[in-house]
Amino acid sequence: MVWPNEDYLKLPGSYLFSTVARKQREFSAAHPDAKIIRLSIGDVTQPLAPVIIDALHKAVDEMASAETFKGYAPDLGYEFLRNVISEKDYKARGCDIAPDEIFVSDGAKGDCGNIQEIFARDCKVAVCDPVYPVYVDTNVMAGRTGTYDEKTGTWSDVIYMPCTAANGFAPELPKTVPDLIYLCFPNNPTGATITKDQLQVWVDYANKEGAVIIYDAAYEAYISEENVPHSIYECEGARECAIEIHSFSKNAGFTGVRLGYTVIPKDLKAGNVQLHSLWARRHGTKYNGAPYIIQKAGEAVYTPEGQAQLKEQVAYYMKNAATIREGLAAAGYTVSGGVNAPYIWLQTPNNMTSWEFFDYLLEKANVVGTPGSGFGPSGEHYFRLTAFGSYENTVEAIERIKKM
Ligand code: MLT
Repeated sequence: MVWPNEDYLKLPGSYLFSTVARKQREFSAAHPDAKIIRLSIGDVTQPLAPVIIDALHKAVDEMASAETFKGYAPDLGYEFLRNVISEKDYKARGCDIAPDEIFVSDGAKGDCGNIQEIFARDCKVAVCDPVYPVYVDTNVMAGRTGTYDEKTGTWSDVIYMPCTAANGFAPELPKTVPDLIYLCFPNNPTGATITKDQLQVWVDYANKEGAVIIYDAAYEAYISEENVPHSIYECEGARECAIEIHSFSKNAGFTGVRLGYTVIPKDLKAGNVQLHSLWARRHGTKYNGAPYIIQKAGEAVYTPEGQAQLKEQVAYYMKNAATIREGLAAAGYTVSGGVNAPYIWLQTPNNMTSWEFFDYLLEKANVVGTPGSGFGPSGEHYFRLTAFGSYENTVEAIERIKKM
């Protein structure tokens, strides 16, 4: 007799963005003429930059000839990509990360979800609240989170670090010492960020307590202000306590292409064990590498033309962010984010719950966003809008919201 994994049965409801998509589908079915604008999931809308399309075409042509054809990719990723990542994302920023400390993957979401596998089942996990749901849900699946309290929307064995207006949406050091700390800056969902000095406090804390920080840097390309770190390895001592996860989805529009990477410095240990070697073992066993064609596209991101074209794309989305932020503020909403991140975090009006506001916005403006409470209890009475729509839709969405 076969039994399901009981830990999966503990997960409440479905994945946040699946619920949002289902509610949108139901509304569309009931209102077939409604022109719905989706500012919910952080999925890009602009086409891939020309330099990336060229690289893809060239790599496809290489697959057509026996001399240049490629089969399985190397476990860690092709050297041409790891070398350029090490140079441009790290050494150029004064961070000491070698190519063989970089693991290329098919995207940050998988890495964010899978990385917990290399840690003991009884590790205590700390997350920001609100938080990208993948960090919590994958630890639930691994049986690490205890029991769920429906009333509070929290897990008994997870340490929550509230990020509220009162602390500028920046987490404070937890009272209970965790083993694993998930941080994401610029933040999803609040769009907030922290300074290098603030991040250094976390690195020092992790080193003092023997904890590991899993640092999700997916939105790094959206940083516009000085003194906001682009990588945790800008902080002293981070090689001994931090893993960093990167995405090509948000900086280069690869949500449908799939490419990411994870950095595990060789100095990082759990007990006496090098975490690099555990992740390498996992990669070798469970993964056959991101496709050559896609890694060539990733390499093109770092060329001078790639950098210039992608800077324009990021600027396009950040113009949307400003449109949302300023438009909502003019309409009397309390808003934050959208300066170093493509997410705008707004307080719901009239003390509506996040899901009440979701329904209200869909009904009155035919705009879909993401309820803050879906990211954790401290997200209640908040709502997230993304800047990844088209400019025209973004302008129209804000006009509709102003008229509600
Ligand atoms: C989001 O909307 O939070 C992101 O798009 C999710 C993701 O990157 O997986």
